Amino acid sequence: MKKTLLITGGAGFIGSHVIRLFVNKYPAYTIVNGDALTYAGNLENLADVKDRPNYIFEKVDITDENAVNALFEKYQFDGVIHLAAESHVDRSILDPLAFIRTNVLGTAVLLNAARKYWKDNMENKRFYHVSTDEVFGSLGEEGFFTEETAYDPRSPYSASKASSDHFVKAYYHTYHLPVVLSNCSNNYGSNHFPEKLIPLAIHNIKNNKPVPVYGKGENVRDWLFVEDHARAIDTIFHNGRLGETYNIGGFNEWKNIDLIRLLCQVMDRKLGREDGTSEKLITFVKDRAGHDLRYAIDATKLNKELGWAPSLQFEEGLEKTVDWYLANEEWLQHVTSGAYQQYYNEQYQQR
Ligand code: NAD
Ligand code: TYD
Repeated sequence: MKKTLLITGGAGFIGSHVIRLFVNKYPAYTIVNGDALTYAGNLENLADVKDRPNYIFEKVDITDENAVNALFEKYQFDGVIHLAAESHVDRSILDPLAFIRTNVLGTAVLLNAARKYWKDNMENKRFYHVSTDEVFGSLGEEGFFTEETAYDPRSPYSASKASSDHFVKAYYHTYHLPVVLSNCSNNYGSNHFPEKLIPLAIHNIKNNKPVPVYGKGENVRDWLFVEDHARAIDTIFHNGRLGETYNIGGFNEWKNIDLIRLLCQVMDRKLGREDGTSEKLITFVKDRAGHDLRYAIDATKLNKELGWAPSLQFEEGLEKTVDWYLANEEWLQHVTSGAYQQYYNEQYQQR
C-alpha cells in the first residue's frame, strides 16, 4: 500500500536506523526525513539510503509552526513517526530550555499540524510518538516499569519527554487524533553520538583517554540494541492499538561499572592489547545531579500483544557495536571535531 510518512529526527541515532528499515522494507512508501540537523543530526548516518527513490530529506525545525505546516501541505502525510528531540540528560542539566523548546513545543507543533491536516479524515492516519522509560523516574533495587507505572520524571530531559507524552495523550482524548506511543529503555549500537556512555567509552578507550564513570558506577540501565528498537517501532506503528502505550526493552540490566569493565575486555581483545590494559583508564568522577538509580522495563505487553522480542544477546550486540566504531574512524572524527570539544570540556573539566 502507498503511504507518505514523516519521520522526524531521522538524521539522529535511532531515527537513522528507523529510516533505513522503512526505506528498505517498504519501497511503496515515501519516507520524508524531517530534521533540523542539530549537533546530533548527521546525514552521514544515511549515506547508504540517500539516493533511494522513496527517500526525501527536508531540513525543518519542528518548533517552527509555519515550516511544519508547509511540510504537511506539501506532502499530505498519512503518518508521522516522531523521534526528533534533544536527547541527552547531561545537556538538559546545562540548558533545560532547549529541551522544553524542542521536546514540548516541537511535539505540540507537530500534533497541531496533524490535527489541522487530518481533521476531516482521520481514517488510516497515525501519529506515533517515540518516548523514553525515563519518564517513569527511578526504580529501587527491585521491580520494573510497566505501562501503568505513574510518571515521575526527575531530569529536565525526562520532564520534557513526560510533558510531550501527556500532550500526545491529550490530543487523543480531546481531538481523537489517532496516536500511539512507546517508551523505550537505553539504546546502543552504531551511529550513536559519543556523548552517551557506550560510544563515549569506546572513543576514549581507543584513544587511551580516561573513561569517566559517574559516582561509584552503581547505577543500572536496561540496554537494547538500536536495530531491535527500530523493529519494535515498525511493529507498533503498523499494529499497535490507537491510544495505547507500549514499553520496549530487552530485560537486559547492567550496572554501569560492570558494563564498562565488559567493554574494556572487548576493546582489549579487538585492539590486541594485553588483558586488563583498558580497565586502567576507568576514572570515577563526580556524580550527575539527580542521577536516576535504576531503569528496568517490563516489555511483556509488546511481546504478548504484538509478538516483538529482542533479536540478540547484549555481548553479541556490544561486539557488533565496537566493530562498527573501529571500522568507522572517519565518522567519529567528523562528529568529535568542532562543537563536540567545547561540550566535552564544559561537561568533564569540573568532575
Ligand atoms: P539523537 O539526539 O541522536 O537525535 C535527535 C535528532 O533530532 C537529531 O537528528 C537532531 O538533529 C533532531 N532534532 C533535534 N532538535 C530538532 C528540532 N527542533 N527540529 C527537528 N529536528 C530536531 O536522539 P536519539 O537517541 O536518536 O533519540 C531519538 C528519540 O528516541 C528521542 O525522542 C528520544 O527521546 C527517544 N529515545 C531515545 C533513547 C536512547 O537511548 N537514545 C531511548 C528511548 C527513547
Ligand atoms: P547516558 O548514556 O547518558 O544515558 P541516560 O542518562 O539517558 O541513561 O548514561 C548512561 C549511564 O551512564 C547513566 O547512569 C549515566 C552514566 N554515565 C557515566 O557514568 N559516565 C558518562 O560519561 C556518561 C555520559 C554517562
